[in-house]
Amino acid sequence: MSFEGRFLVITGASSGIGAQLARELVERGARVGLLARREERLQHLSNELPPGTSTWAAADVTDREGLHRACEQLVAEGGEPDVVIANAGFNRPETAPEFKPGRALSIYDTNLLGFLHTLDWALPRFLERGAGHVVGIASVASYFGFPHNAAYCGSKAAMRVHLQSLRMSLKRSGVAVTTICPGFVESELTQKNNFTMPFLWPTDRAARRIADAIERRAAEVVFPWQMRWLVTLGLARLVPRSLAERLLTGSG
Ligand SMILES: NC(=O)c1ccc[n+]([C@@H]2O[C@H](COP(=O)([O-])OP(=O)(O)OC[C@H]3O[C@@H](n4cnc5c(N)ncnc54)[C@H](OP(=O)(O)O)[C@@H]3O)[C@@H](O)[C@H]2O)c1
Repeated sequence: MSFEGRFLVITGASSGIGAQLARELVERGARVGLLARREERLQHLSNELPPGTSTWAAADVTDREGLHRACEQLVAEGGEPDVVIANAGFNRPETAPEFKPGRALSIYDTNLLGFLHTLDWALPRFLERGAGHVVGIASVASYFGFPHNAAYCGSKAAMRVHLQSLRMSLKRSGVAVTTICPGFVESELTQKNNFTMPFLWPTDRAARRIADAIERRAAEVVFPWQMRWLVTLGLARLVPRSLAERLLTGSG
């Protein structure tokens, strides 16, 4: 699929991967619809992009009706989307002594329910047209329950498996489904991490990789390859679970 003249809606477009992906897609000839909560960030990004290539609307993905209203606003300004990218997400790692009731729920609310609210808006119109493309930004964290990140890993695992099932269900519908599982990428999310992040990618490199995957309507992409090996083969198949858990918690 060429991006020339296509309209792609991106949730979580006010910073990090979403904002850089918007820049990358516009560079490749697309128009973008930007969604997130921070209006000034969206306005700023839209002003930075060439005139006529972007439109934006503020929305919280956890608010189903508000999100759907904002999506309709994008359609009114930019037309029917060819691709909807569910990228909005966040994480707040926690250690056992700081366990806060409700924190896990708020992560699931954004990462999983927000994603489902996005699908609820996109899928019926794509299916009616018999064309369209849904893209979900999951994570390498969807493959393993890493310590202190239960809700994040759980929400991303649910998202990845949901998309896998959907991809097969929609096989003959004309609607494509792509799952993206990035490793560590520079963004506001990873800026908060106070540990060394292995194989950390700059945002523009990740955005190029994601745009390539969307362009060829890939099924599932896991990057970088070192993380793909680690999560899909090493931790999942080669290393016994008990050893993996001991290594990850530093206990002998
Ligand atoms: N960076 C990584 O290493 C990495 C790795 C794997 C997966 N991911 C995934 O990539 C996606 C983008 O994250 P990022 O790394 O680019 O982090 P980021 O810079 O913090 O961007 C997160 C985006 O999501 C939006 N967002 C968060 N909660 C929202 C809500 N309730 N409603 C609407 N928008 C919301 C934020 O916008 P507002 O605050 O303006 O609403 C922001 O635009 C996330 O799903 C994340 O889980 C990131």
